[in-house]
Parts: sequence; structure tokens; C-alpha cells
Amino acid sequence: MIRAMATTNPIPRFPVGFLWGVSTSAHQIEGAVDAREPSVWDVFTAEPGRVRDGSTAAVACDHVHRHREDVALLADLGVDAYRFSVSWPRVRAEGGLDFYDRLVDDLLAAGVRPVPTLFHWDLPADLDWLERDTAERFAEHVTRVAARLGDRVTKWITLNEPAEHTLLGHALGVHAPGRTLLFDALPVAHHQLLAHGLAVRALRAAGASDIGIANSHGPTWPASDDAADVAAADFYDTLLNRLFADPVLLGRYPEGIGELMPGDVEADLKTIAEPVDWYGINYYAPTRVGAPQGAEIEFGGVRMPAELPFFVRDVEGYPVTDFGWPVVPEALTELLTAFRGRYGDRLPPVVITENGCAYEGLNDTDRITYLDGHVRALHRAVEAGVDVRGYFVWSLLDNFEWAEGYGRRFGLVHVDFDTQRRTPKASYGWYRALLREQRD
Ligand code: BGC
Repeated sequence: MIRAMATTNPIPRFPVGFLWGVSTSAHQIEGAVDAREPSVWDVFTAEPGRVRDGSTAAVACDHVHRHREDVALLADLGVDAYRFSVSWPRVRAEGGLDFYDRLVDDLLAAGVRPVPTLFHWDLPADLDWLERDTAERFAEHVTRVAARLGDRVTKWITLNEPAEHTLLGHALGVHAPGRTLLFDALPVAHHQLLAHGLAVRALRAAGASDIGIANSHGPTWPASDDAADVAAADFYDTLLNRLFADPVLLGRYPEGIGELMPGDVEADLKTIAEPVDWYGINYYAPTRVGAPQGAEIEFGGVRMPAELPFFVRDVEGYPVTDFGWPVVPEALTELLTAFRGRYGDRLPPVVITENGCAYEGLNDTDRITYLDGHVRALHRAVEAGVDVRGYFVWSLLDNFEWAEGYGRRFGLVHVDFDTQRRTPKASYGWYRALLREQRD
């Protein structure tokens, strides 16, 4: 293993009981595709041209067969908790829950707390979020998983990033299921939110008392002070930072959105606003947004049609990751203090459920710089009075990065996809040292 660089200026101490972890998701690491039902991602990746390198997640990190090795890596890393996702298509297959049963046992035996996410984009291929019924089916899935794992799992996450699943999967068509509905994709948002609320109820009925959701958020910066740019940035901020947070935390949609949603929205909002015990935030980078230019743009590999009421621009003046995402740690402090300002007492304790970056190489000093900066920025938010209870790095392993295939490496551990050999990177050593320091 490559030694971590010594940090000269130690990271300040986080509150006692702060939960340090890493995250993964089922479709991105599990493989063992024949032992589960197909998901929308299997269908999508089989279509030519959908994934940049033409790859699929049929094998990915072969985690189903190698999970013992991966649990050993987690134990050696010294994390308190491991956030993984439970694949709905695997749970539906004969014996599918047996895998998670073993995984949970192995994690607990290694002293690592399991934190399952119940949906991370791999919808069973015969289901569709445009249909309200999918929310009810999800609640059944949750009940089934909780009945099997609930005696050992205490901390749960309902959904991962319904915003990206709606926007990238159903509005812009760059993720599965590949629809390009633009604003007609809004029912997908509503049905996932409804699914979240029903899942909270199902988990409570199974006795759970530590439930959250993982939403993606980030500061939205207007391209200039010009009123048109500010209005476009506000609109984008509503989509990214309020569309999925207001209903969960306040029990209402941002102005003008509720009337675009299907069904008995008022009644559904009561379900959606079932209290959560904590609120998960996935943070990667801020976004610079300006007024529409009437032209199609390609941004971060995503083609955005000219009809959109905003225009996403580069955030200039900062280093960028291999994905082209700007590295702006202070934007995490800004995001969290703004959230606290916006939601006040309605904001439960926050957990950073994902934070990380794509870089090549085993001696990944750029990743160390990114993570070090973000952990310090998080501490500043704690000092500013935001109640933050945990931090999860994305990701434990290099994995199948959706439409980018295997071309973007987010792992603390390198995976050679030809041999499945795992090699901890310098950032793994850095995180391990940080966790020890925090406990000394
Ligand atoms: C998702 C992960 C993804 C990561 C990096 C998040 O949006 O939850 O599945 O790999 O970002 O793109």
C-alpha cells in the first residue's frame, strides 16, 4: 500500500459519536447479474451508444462473490459504517435476500455498521416511475427487506438522489431508462417522493427509528448579477435544492410545482412529509447557472436541450476533477449553512451520505486534497452550528460509473477490472489515518 502523505495541519476533531463511513451502490459494484432480475440499467446499457466505453455492470467489481474481501477492506480502513444499496431486482429473485443477510452478518462481525439504501436507481425493468403504483410496489420491497434485515440493521436510507434519477434518467435521457421528457418527467419526482414517504411508514411499522434519505444538493451560483441570470439560477436552485427537500422537510412543493404533479397532491404530501430522523446530503460541486441562450449545450457529458430555462456554465477559477467538476470545498460549508438558514428547525441532523471525486492513479494526491478540503469545510459548518452527524466518502471501490462506464475512478481502493484485484490507494491510507486521529 502507498503511504498517505503526512498532513501538517491536523483536521479538527468532530463531535463524539460522529459517524465516518464510505458508500457504494448495488448496480455499480455487485455484478452477479444472472442471480437477479433485470433492471432498467441492464436494458439501457444493452442499447448501443448509451455508455461511453460500451461497458455494462454485468460483472462490475464482482462484489457479490468477493464481498468478504471488501468487508475486510472496510474493517482495515476503520470506518464506523458502510452505506451500500439493496438491489430491488436481486431481492425479487429467488434467494436474493440471502446475499444481504450474509453481508450484514459479515459487516457486524467486522465491527462495521450496515447502512442500506433501499433504492439506488436500479429499478426492476418491468416497473416505471411514471406509474403511481411503483411507489406502492416499493413499499412492499421495503417491508420485505426490513422483515429480513431489521433485526440487525438499525440505520436506513430510503432513496438515493431522486433528483438525478428524474433529471438524468427521465428528463434528459443520459441515464436509464433513457427518457427525454424534460418537464413531463415531474411525475417521476412525485412518485419517488411518495415512495420515500411510504417507505418511512413501512420502516416505522417494522420498528425502525433511524431513517433518512440521500438527496443531492449543491450551491447554485448565478453567472452574473443580471436579473435574467439570477432568475435562471433561482429556478435551477429550486429544481436541485428544493424540489426534493421542501416536500420532505416542509410538506409542500416550491411555488408553482405542486399543480404540475399528478394525483391527490395534498394527501400525498402528508405521506411524503413523514418525519425522518436525519437528512442525507450528497455533495460534489457547485453549479454556475445563467439565462437560457437558446442553444443546445453539452455540459459534463450531458447534452442539455435549448428549451431548458437555464444554461449551465463552467465554474471557473478552481481545479477540476477528471470528470471536469470544480473542486470547491468552501461551497460545502456554504451549502450547509444555507440549508440551515432555509429550513431552520425543520432540518433534522444532517449526514453527508456521499462526497468524493474522480481521479486516476494509485498515488491519488488530488483525491486526498479534495477530501481533506471537504472534511475541513464540513467542520466549519459544524462550528457554524449545523448539526452534522456523519460523513461518507464516495466510494470504497472504483466501480461502474453509470453512463461513463469504468472510465471514472472514484474509489479509495483501485480495482483492476481484468483481474478483480483490489489495491488500496494513497487516499485509503489518508482516510484510515484520519479515522485513527479522530478516535485518539
Ligand atoms: C451517485 C453515485 C455516483 C456518484 C458520482 C452520485 O450522483 O449517487 O451513484 O456514482 O454520484 O457520479
